[in-house]
Amino acid sequence: MSLPDPSFLLARAPVVPVVTVQSVAAGVKLARALVDGGLPLIEVTLRTPAALEAIAAIAQEVPDAIVGAGTVTRPDLIQKSIDAGSRFLVSPGCPPRLMEALAEAPVPVMPGCATATEAMALAAMGFPVLKLFPAEAVGGVPLLKSLAGPLPDLRFCPTGGIGPDNVGTYLALPNIVAVGGSWVAPGDAISVGDFAKVTALAKAASKLPRAAFPA
Ligand code: 3PG
Repeated sequence: MSLPDPSFLLARAPVVPVVTVQSVAAGVKLARALVDGGLPLIEVTLRTPAALEAIAAIAQEVPDAIVGAGTVTRPDLIQKSIDAGSRFLVSPGCPPRLMEALAEAPVPVMPGCATATEAMALAAMGFPVLKLFPAEAVGGVPLLKSLAGPLPDLRFCPTGGIGPDNVGTYLALPNIVAVGGSWVAPGDAISVGDFAKVTALAKAASKLPRAAFPA
């Protein structure tokens, strides 16, 4: 069984900004800043009351953005996210009922895993790209290298604890299609409306080389 593959979206940029928005207006400005910096994929976490409305506004008002929903922790959030305009879904973990529901979603999904057993269970369900979460805390680059041996077909988008200092070591791994992270959209810059800083951070991130998509 093969489920919708997020790789064609992830091919667009090596970094997926993980953003938590406090308002719809801030979400739209942030999306514009990220797109201007060359990062069109944007994961809006469903952690704030504004999140779903922000996804809808980004989908409508920032046509070059490819907006998705993160922190999908319950089955009822799947349809709500898609109705809002999410073009991909991300979950932090893989409880069985949520995974069964996500496997029915008509958009690409990156389900979260933290162990070989979870990765194997998700691969068996047909998910082609998994989010390793929280990447640094569960083993980071050494874990991903180790998983490549027994699970050579699996590809990952690790997230959690990745930033400018270690992103290169992740993107150098052939089983990494992209990484996710919040460092390109820092809360302090957003809170003072410094979207030029976001664009500058995105520009640097968008140029990072990755082994999975050789230039
Ligand atoms: C998250 O879900 O919060 C993401 O993994 C972002 O993690 P980061 O803030 O460590 O980049």
